[in-house]
Amino acid sequence: MAKPQLWGARFTKSMSNDLFKLSRSTGFDWRLAPYDILQTMAHVEALFQEQVISQAQYTKLNTALSQMLKDLKKGKLLPASEDEDVHSALERILIERVPAAGGWVRSGRSRNDQIACDLRMYLRDQVREISRQSLLLLELLMKLGAQHATDPVPGYTHTQRAQPVTLGHQFLSHAQALSRDLDRYQDWDHRASVSPLGAGALAGSGIVKQTRMVASLLAFDDYSRNSLDAVSDRDFVAELLFVISLQGIHLSKIAEEIILFTTKEFGFAKLDDAWGTGSSMMPQKKNADGAELTRGKVGRLIGNLTALLTTLKALPFAYNRDLQEDKEPVFDSVDTILLTLPVMTGTLASMEFNLEKLASEAGTGFSLATEIADFLTLRGIDFKTAHEITGQCVKLAESKGVELVELSLSDLKKINKNLNEDLLSVLTVKGSINNRTSASGTSVSSVKAQLRDLAKNIKKQKSWANETIFRKLSDA
Ligand code: ARG
Repeated sequence: MAKPQLWGARFTKSMSNDLFKLSRSTGFDWRLAPYDILQTMAHVEALFQEQVISQAQYTKLNTALSQMLKDLKKGKLLPASEDEDVHSALERILIERVPAAGGWVRSGRSRNDQIACDLRMYLRDQVREISRQSLLLLELLMKLGAQHATDPVPGYTHTQRAQPVTLGHQFLSHAQALSRDLDRYQDWDHRASVSPLGAGALAGSGIVKQTRMVASLLAFDDYSRNSLDAVSDRDFVAELLFVISLQGIHLSKIAEEIILFTTKEFGFAKLDDAWGTGSSMMPQKKNADGAELTRGKVGRLIGNLTALLTTLKALPFAYNRDLQEDKEPVFDSVDTILLTLPVMTGTLASMEFNLEKLASEAGTGFSLATEIADFLTLRGIDFKTAHEITGQCVKLAESKGVELVELSLSDLKKINKNLNEDLLSVLTVKGSINNRTSASGTSVSSVKAQLRDLAKNIKKQKSWANETIFRKLSDA
């Protein structure tokens, strides 16, 4: 197989087929092609301004590159089996289309700074898509939060009944996590927005010095200050893999709650048929496979992060070919999170909650015990003592097989004289919920304030996520 290599003159033999198979990356890096073409357009601009290429060459190259972008969009631009990577394939095609000028494009640029640049561009674009999908889920959680702001549910710690909360408050706990994820993507973008171009292979370029101009043409806010760092830095990949993994973990927690809520044992919610799966053997089954897969996929997200960190460890002196191993993990994580987000949104949006059952169970399992302790504390008994007194109430209720509200006043008074009829008014689910007016509490007023803050933040997050950073790509 004759390979159109980017080198040759100093070699007496062509590359072995086995090495070529190991080396070739077009199977996965072709998704960078649009960004590579955009990048070459900016590079051609710089070559022209530096007077490396003539006006005629500049025009021909630009026309060819725009056409390549269009062909790519139509699926008509593909790598050949002999092409090693996205860069060499696109250079070959450009030279075929513009024989008189294509060979100039490599001046002042190496695949080492080129790949670092492509990857930054691609990921900055994808992060906006991930954020847009995350916003859909966040908005749904906020809608559900508002809708169920007064619906009581049992609140859990250690998966044991703890204190009543509202279903809205529970939804908004996930909204908070998702809102932090969105902030993290935006914060990541700030550090990723650095152009490595001008680094060349490692030492910088003696031909193209318009680093700032090229950076701004490619929507970067800054350019790299050190060429050795520019070609070897993959912090932006590692960071993004972490942020995606953490978001995956957040989704897995929602997934886990969906799985538990829809079991016969909890019986708190029903899955919509469109978002459940059946069993090949047991006709009665409806399984939460979407939630389970979302939970399961986090394994690979964390695996991808670990794989990249392991690859990066102890890599010496600027670019090493090991760095080619950065792409498959991060592409997989991007694809995976984009698969799971709409499933979580769709599943949650269509779930039916058994509000009656949730409300009637919210006060059971002695979940109002803290109310008794708080009641006593507000009447001058220190919490340690109040805790012990309440413990006796629970013990008595448990031995009688009743809930705390079902204890008689005389029983309660025998335990402590402060436990009078006033207690009965706070020993209710509603009272318990309405009492919790601290800023982060489950009371309706706190939940409403929480919603207002989320809404303020979401505005900023939306305008950032909706910006089109590479207009040429959408126009092509
Ligand atoms: N395909 C390589 C990568 O993904 C970029 C090419 C650099 N190759 C080289 N031999 N210097 O990192």
